[in-house]
Amino acid sequence: MKIFLDTANLDELKKGASWGIVDGVTTNPTLIAKEGRPIAEQVRLICDIVDGDISAEVVSTEASAMIKEGKELAKIHKNIVVKCPLTRDGIQATKALSSEGIRVNVTLCFSPGQALLAAKAGAYIISPFVGRLDDIGWTGMDLVRQILQIYKNYGFKTQVLAASLRSPLHVVDAALAGSHIGTMPFKVLDMLFNHPLTDKGLDQFLKDYAKAFPEAPGR
Ligand code: G3P
Repeated sequence: MKIFLDTANLDELKKGASWGIVDGVTTNPTLIAKEGRPIAEQVRLICDIVDGDISAEVVSTEASAMIKEGKELAKIHKNIVVKCPLTRDGIQATKALSSEGIRVNVTLCFSPGQALLAAKAGAYIISPFVGRLDDIGWTGMDLVRQILQIYKNYGFKTQVLAASLRSPLHVVDAALAGSHIGTMPFKVLDMLFNHPLTDKGLDQFLKDYAKAFPEAPGR
């Protein structure tokens, strides 16, 4: 499963990229707004940090305006994936942009029927929001599994990106479901490293070695 960071924060992206395991970035208008720079400016900076798909979301709501905005965003860098919401206008814009070779991530997907429409419109990525479904008492991961099955049934090439992942367990469940991509906040990626037995084991290894070879390099 590809790992994407769901943040527009440059420090978090630099840190994640330094680990060598970040395949891409997703942003949304809320995440961009937190950083204080307009979308085009902020995603340009992000493209210099992470070499992978960078989703940049349109803020227009009418199809022709979305198409215009999407084309402008796509010009910023070859790695930009234009993000359109799963509305009637968003699907219309997805079809138009995809037909011109612009890759589109269809966002705010909460049902398998919506995901079917996105694939038919030629979406490069579909983003089901797992955590937000959990929030309202549905099992968000079931949606990921249903979309994967539907896309498999018909050979759709659209990649499934499990979004709104809020915990390491969400990430593991997305991977077990076979999601192509999982996007997560920096905090969740950081938590994936943690295991008390790793810390305990390393501590013991180093103590044992230091006892036997007090002058060894590295100290
Ligand atoms: O990529 C979509 C994601 O940012 C939504 O996450 O936690 O706001 O539901 P959340």
